[in-house]
Amino acid sequence: MFKDKNDVRRVGIIGVGEYLPKKVLTNADLEKIVETSDEWITTRTGIKERRIAAKEEAVSDLAVKAAQAALADAGVLAADLELIIIATITPDMQFPSTACFIQKSLGAKKAACFDISAACAGFVHAIVIAQQFISTGLYKNALVVGVEVLSSITDWQDRNTCVLFGDGAGAAVLAPVKSGGILSSYLGSDGTQAELLMLPAGGSRYPTTHETVDKRMHYLKMQGNEVFKLAVNVMADAAQIVLKKAGLECSDIDLVIPHQANIRILLALAKKLNLPEDKVYFNIEKYGNMSSASTATALCQAIREGRIKKGDIVLLDAFGAGLVWAACVIEW
Ligand code: UT7
Repeated sequence: MFKDKNDVRRVGIIGVGEYLPKKVLTNADLEKIVETSDEWITTRTGIKERRIAAKEEAVSDLAVKAAQAALADAGVLAADLELIIIATITPDMQFPSTACFIQKSLGAKKAACFDISAACAGFVHAIVIAQQFISTGLYKNALVVGVEVLSSITDWQDRNTCVLFGDGAGAAVLAPVKSGGILSSYLGSDGTQAELLMLPAGGSRYPTTHETVDKRMHYLKMQGNEVFKLAVNVMADAAQIVLKKAGLECSDIDLVIPHQANIRILLALAKKLNLPEDKVYFNIEKYGNMSSASTATALCQAIREGRIKKGDIVLLDAFGAGLVWAACVIEW
């Protein structure tokens, strides 16, 4: 088996896939729903349009399509999968885990299945978790999906939030690799900032009642500019930590795949890391903020567009509600 200097298996991403719902919601469409403008949304966020799942599409439906594409890309049969981790804040249901619905649709009978809740940093968390299971030898492969139907928890009367989010799914298959792979990783959190971004009702704190629905507490709430201020710093810090752990410098990075919350956050991150903009991947213009699916689809699209080549150093860097953040350096 392929081991690194610490005598654990090297783990890499051996296949990726994505699925974006067909329906496109443009800024012009949003102008008809709330008091906003294409000009405000574009200059403040960098978003031009986003995808919205069809009424009959739940998160697992999007995830299965992305997963099938990733399995085909990796050349791994669903029947041979040993682990499925789904990163989502919009599961099909509170329980059972969305991972179990996906297992059923894929026919991945052998796989252990669970979901994780790490919001927009969920896909990177899930990659790091899957890496642990594979590097210790417990499982020989894993499917990780970052997937959201954020339109289902968006308050379409709140212009502060409804212009930001979109729906989508991105998947990756991980397995031992001969060289490169995940060189270092880091997970961080600060629960003192939990109030900044949340879905208040529907859990055990505020079980769903007529009152919680009347107060619109079943929709996502965010203190946007407070989150903004923290985002740039935690992403930059996480990047520095994983680079140091890998024995690399910012100048060694070939491409950053960041969480796509706001173009201004990404440009500030590039500046802080002293990286030219062309070393940062953006898909926010077309898809908005898809939480865990943003990093996942961005990785898939960057590979498809030839932006990542064998031997490249890729930095995944994400933050989200919690607050939580996560980064990893991968040699492709
Ligand atoms: O995914 C992980 C977590 N999420 C994030 O990282 C999001 C981070 N935050 C952001 O991206 C930005 O803070 C926002 C895009 C959410 C907001 O941008 P901002 O520059 O921080 O604006 P603001 O919240 O300070 O609001 C500025 C003004 C306000 O008007 P007043 O009070 O100055 O008159 C808002 O009412 O913009 C107004 N506004 C809008 N105007 C037109 C807020 N939303 C809209 C809108 N259209 N959609």
